Amino acid sequence: MIVQSATPPVHECNADALILALGADWENSPTITELDRRMSGQLSRWIQDGEILTKPMKTATILSPIGLQAKTLILVGLGSPGVGKSGLKKSSDGTVSDVDSVAGVAFRAAAAGAKIASQAKTRKTIAFAGFGDFLHQEATAMQSAVAGSVTGGIGQDLFKAESATAPAETILWYDVSEELLQSGKAIGESMILVKRLVNLPPNYLYPDSFVQEAVAVGAEAGFQVEVWDEAKLIAENCNSLLAVSKGSTRPPRLCILRYAGNPSSTETSTIDNAPIALVGKGVTFDSGGYSLKPTDGMLTMKCDMAGAATVLGILRAAALLKIRQPIIGLVGLVENMVAGNAMKLGDVLTARSGKTIEVHNTDAEGRLVLADVLNVALDYSPSKIIDFATLTGACCVALGNDIVGVMSNDNDLQQELLVTASNVGEYAWPLPMFPYFSEQIAGKVADIKNVGEGRWGGAITAAKFLEQFVDEKPWVHLDIAGPAFLDSPKSWCDAGGTATMVRTIIAMLSK
Ligand code: BES
Ligand code: MN
Ligand code: ZN
Repeated sequence: MIVQSATPPVHECNADALILALGADWENSPTITELDRRMSGQLSRWIQDGEILTKPMKTATILSPIGLQAKTLILVGLGSPGVGKSGLKKSSDGTVSDVDSVAGVAFRAAAAGAKIASQAKTRKTIAFAGFGDFLHQEATAMQSAVAGSVTGGIGQDLFKAESATAPAETILWYDVSEELLQSGKAIGESMILVKRLVNLPPNYLYPDSFVQEAVAVGAEAGFQVEVWDEAKLIAENCNSLLAVSKGSTRPPRLCILRYAGNPSSTETSTIDNAPIALVGKGVTFDSGGYSLKPTDGMLTMKCDMAGAATVLGILRAAALLKIRQPIIGLVGLVENMVAGNAMKLGDVLTARSGKTIEVHNTDAEGRLVLADVLNVALDYSPSKIIDFATLTGACCVALGNDIVGVMSNDNDLQQELLVTASNVGEYAWPLPMFPYFSEQIAGKVADIKNVGEGRWGGAITAAKFLEQFVDEKPWVHLDIAGPAFLDSPKSWCDAGGTATMVRTIIAMLSK
């Protein structure tokens, strides 16, 4: 994909589609005013008549617009970015719940425009104009808009002879600096990688093929990839991860991604010479094991490696952006299957840390994988740990399908994550980690068991289990079971993988 600055005046832009931002405050937009004049006042009449809406992500398509060189004009609503509709105001510590942040609207509106454009194969070159007028040229928002323009046209139909979506080959932008264009592109393309890996079916994407993808991405973006095979995992006592993998004919892998950081970066954030560890759940298919899932629940379980894909995508973007912060990515890759030698209910495992775990439910496998991967992360003396996991259906029950559950042992780190997510316009919300939840995972014959008492609070008991393996390091757990994978499309994103949290973590690490 080529992403570059547009040069001719907007009315002379001869792109296959011109995507024009339309905020509620359109009368004060120089871009809209000029195009409206070229179109003999047609645009303002349609807006005033209510034929064209200025609400966020509403689109209107005008074929062969008179007075413009572009073959098609696509208007996309931005509403009043930054004003916010949630009613909650910023508190003194910066916390907001307002996901209609300027950058969030910018990302979703640009993506919605790119998605509409991708519905016709003829639109090979698309141009974006007018966004700066409504986003006040705010850097994070403009970068988010570019990322949205890159990802929005990408569909999940990887295997259709006649794909329903044809993402543009060239994307032109008005009023965006070269730096923001290139960083927005790096973030957007890393999100495309995450979406593609999540969308790949489990007969294509399994532990070893994920590793091959990671090796290729590391070579392209500039970070090291180390692979632990089954023999190494055995030698390292990763018995909890290995137990999940036992029923599968596909051997497990642990992949360590190392980005050294860039000491000459001018980023002014706290300079940690210690790496931050990003840990991902990479269950390439989750049948549930002997605690077998029903068909409906199993059908989309190719998405259970979304955490691992997220870590790989973040590493790719961080390396291309040459951010200051060193990163260690660790992903545990397994298939959770049934077989004569598969893990059984009642099995007792000795994790790499030495803790013993009673298996009460083989479908609570993600935490068994992460127990060992988190323990390996500690070997690198990270300053903090963030894990990403499609861990529990209970998190979707608690927060719905669109919100990331945030659980932590460190209030400052949790706040930093929540504030960043809110600033970039991703949906994340905290769940409490009161100590008494730990009582629920106390073991009967071993140190701990892998589920709580009954299903209530299941997202939190899962997090409490993970907490046992981070040794008091500042740690935040992101349960992405809902938002990582959409069952039905949104105006700004096809169904399937979403690459949730890539924008948030890149923003958090590159301040
Ligand atoms: N991978 C699932 C969680 C999941 C559910 C992800 C829906 C995406 C969408 C996880 O391994 C799982 O099966 N969790 C169980 C835990 C339970 C057995 C304690 C669940 O949520 O039911
Ligand atoms: Mn499971
Ligand atoms: Zn799972």
